[in-house]
Amino acid sequence: MFTSRTNWQLHPNPYTQALEEHRRSGGEILDLTASNPTECGFDYPQEEILSALADPRSLAYHPESKGLAEARRAVAGYYEGRAGFSPSAAPVDPDHVLLASGTSEAYSHVFRLLCEPGDEILVPAPSYPLFEFLADLADIRLVPYPLLYDHGWQIDLVSLRAALTPRSRAVMVVHPNNPTGSFVKPGEAAELAGICAARDMAIVADEVFLDYTNAPHPAQTFALHDAALTFTLSGLSKISLLPQMKLAWTVVSGPHSLAKTAVERLEIIADTYLSPGTPVQLALPKFLALRHGLQSQVRRRISENLSVLDAALAESGVVTRLDFEGGWYTVLRVPVTRTDEALAIDLLQRCSVLVHPGHFFNFPRDGFLVISLITLESEFQEGVRRLRDCLAAG
Ligand SMILES: Cc1ncc(COP(=O)(O)O)c(C=O)c1O
Repeated sequence: MFTSRTNWQLHPNPYTQALEEHRRSGGEILDLTASNPTECGFDYPQEEILSALADPRSLAYHPESKGLAEARRAVAGYYEGRAGFSPSAAPVDPDHVLLASGTSEAYSHVFRLLCEPGDEILVPAPSYPLFEFLADLADIRLVPYPLLYDHGWQIDLVSLRAALTPRSRAVMVVHPNNPTGSFVKPGEAAELAGICAARDMAIVADEVFLDYTNAPHPAQTFALHDAALTFTLSGLSKISLLPQMKLAWTVVSGPHSLAKTAVERLEIIADTYLSPGTPVQLALPKFLALRHGLQSQVRRRISENLSVLDAALAESGVVTRLDFEGGWYTVLRVPVTRTDEALAIDLLQRCSVLVHPGHFFNFPRDGFLVISLITLESEFQEGVRRLRDCLAAG
């Protein structure tokens, strides 16, 4: 009765099972995977958030297929003054912005725009696991291309080229990537643009973590990229720490006539659903304006947690942290004594510390754990201390 595209393994995996059992038995958990910003002790300007949702215009329904014009202007304003990968690029045009109810939805629309069933999208490995489900639902195939760790992460462009087939429709980049925390470098962006432009392929750039950089200067954006057809996705969930508002966007850039056609077609897809609600669209300019105060709290948290982590690991002979350029996550290199999943379960059961096994993110081999840097400082400090001691004890 059901489609093969929904024939997923629905049983909880051993890690999820162990976590459920641990919770059921009332066991303590030091959660080093915390990623929901609304539960990480940040100080939200509550009155301002709630009053932004109380615009009386929300009482009427006047939908616009790409999203309300003033919301799209606010998104274009978010990119103002940023450096792009193409020095010649014009500023973001609000008419090339389309709103969606989350980046996941934005991805689905872009995949439906670009891919016939069975077509392929190249995705970085390691990367974020949600893409598998989005690909299943869009009847497409994800083809991984490796990120290599050698004095920092870099795209393995030789392997990426080798992975191209006549069915390749786009190259996805996550900038900075979750969980490696690595940004696409300007030389890599130029090379990807060359590959895509030559083969009628597009770049799909996920920039939800763009503002969280460990470098002193802001990261370059793909939204100001005109060398190849480019879809840049971002949204409120990370930029303004408001995932519950369910508002994200796609910016379309690239050679003029390609970008124009892409916008026209995406507009029809968006018009078919008209997903984002009016109150949140009207509140978007305010929510974007609030990001500065919220992001500075996140940056402080990340920097304090990194210092705590580095101090703890300095006393550990066995665990090291990989380079961190941006985002909310960092990767730990640990001795390979078993699978990462078995290790994560052991850390939970023996030490009450919750971490992500690297294999959830498609690391090529065992020996990697992923932790969140936005966990509350006190929990992070104790969690990292126990993690180090547990790993040292073997
Ligand atoms: C790389 C990446 N893209 C997209 C998302 C989802 O964002 P949204 O809440 O806008 O769907 C996440 C969530 O963690 C993410 O890590």
